Amino acid sequence: MITGAAGFIGSHVTRSFVTKYPNYKIIALDLLTYAGNLENLCDIENKANYDFVKGDICDSDFMRKLFVERNITDVIHLAAESHVDRSIADPFVFIKTNVLGTSHLLHLAKESWDSKSGDHIFYHISTDEVYGSLELNGGFFNESTAYDPRSPYSASKASSDHMVRAWHHTYGLPIVISNCSNNYGPNQFPEKLIPLFINNIIEKKALPVYGQGLNIRDWLHVEDHANAIDIVFHKGQMGETYNIGGHNEWKNIDVIHLLCKLMDQKLDRKNGESAQLIKFVTDRPGHDLRYAIDASKAEQTLSWKPNYSFEEGLSKTIDWYLENKSWLQNVTTGSYKEYYKKQYLDRTKEVNR
Ligand code: NAD
Ligand code: DAU
Repeated sequence: MITGAAGFIGSHVTRSFVTKYPNYKIIALDLLTYAGNLENLCDIENKANYDFVKGDICDSDFMRKLFVERNITDVIHLAAESHVDRSIADPFVFIKTNVLGTSHLLHLAKESWDSKSGDHIFYHISTDEVYGSLELNGGFFNESTAYDPRSPYSASKASSDHMVRAWHHTYGLPIVISNCSNNYGPNQFPEKLIPLFINNIIEKKALPVYGQGLNIRDWLHVEDHANAIDIVFHKGQMGETYNIGGHNEWKNIDVIHLLCKLMDQKLDRKNGESAQLIKFVTDRPGHDLRYAIDASKAEQTLSWKPNYSFEEGLSKTIDWYLENKSWLQNVTTGSYKEYYKKQYLDRTKEVNR
């Protein structure tokens, strides 16, 4: 079962597993919150080894039936509330989904797998934000860095990581965790920096840069992350944590200028035209200065490495949004929610409540 399958990263992971592993029966589970979009999965919806189920990880009765009836053997857990700004405005849904939802899933996996023999894995997808914020010359986050989450989002993810480890240490649940840096690529909801700014440049709307744009993020293409998830799932050691990142630190303002330059070229606009949309706005409260991942454990022990350069990945990402304007339009108008009704309402195999 892949949770959060209709979200940004979840949809790339689901597509990759469904395509690469025809013998796996993939249950794609998602509540289809504002961030879940079945259009992200429309190219694989008829594959024999793919089965979408709409459900809430916080609904333990529903999830218990799903575990039993579908004989869930492994979990790749991506379902979460994921946007820092939303967590500042409304923290409680983050605590519910990320902390309680993850805890319910852990307990169901334990219940279900205790009674069976065989190999299982509960793979929890987490974030580098659990480690807090680095100074400009403050080195890198590695797997031993002490947790220091500073936003409601990162505190909820840190809490879920602790729960995962607690179920491992206390009950022997077979788990693995990876903590990844900022992803970008196709299908990302246009509230996050890169897709929001691509959309605003297309529409000639202001580009709201928080503070002075000097915060630093370590950007990784979503397909490189999906590949890391595949490798950790198959080769990661039980109970271990792996940091995943791109060795690709950029100041926000530099990412934004590169984006503006590429979009001027692709949209046939005058060089410098999109940069005029930049507007410095009030900073995000508690804005973490810098994230940077030391991914050498995954590189050395699992032979994972990113394939995309940032310039190539960003250019292809812009191309995807320009070629999929209807996706962007459906998301920004809200009509993407109709896709579920049209395609799935009578086809989704609901578990009897
Ligand atoms: P996203 O917001 O695009 O997708 C999250 C998905 O979870 C959505 O499809 C949503 O409908 C689903 N969901 C939310 N609540 C649910 C619930 N109660 N039950 C079932 N499904 C529910 O997020 P994303 O960017 O794809 O991130 C996926 C995971 O990866 C998250 O756990 C996030 O913390 C982690 N992560 C993200 C990044 C990043 O840069 N985006 C980096 C590192 C780690
Ligand atoms: O590091 C991994 C994390 O990366 C993931 O765990 C989160 O799920 C994901 O949302 C992302 O968090 P960030 O807060 O770093 O991503 P975001 O795209 O929201 O912002 C990136 C940077 O850009 C950050 O420094 C804030 C800034 N920003 C963001 C937005 C949306 C702006 O300046 N203006 C904006 O409008």
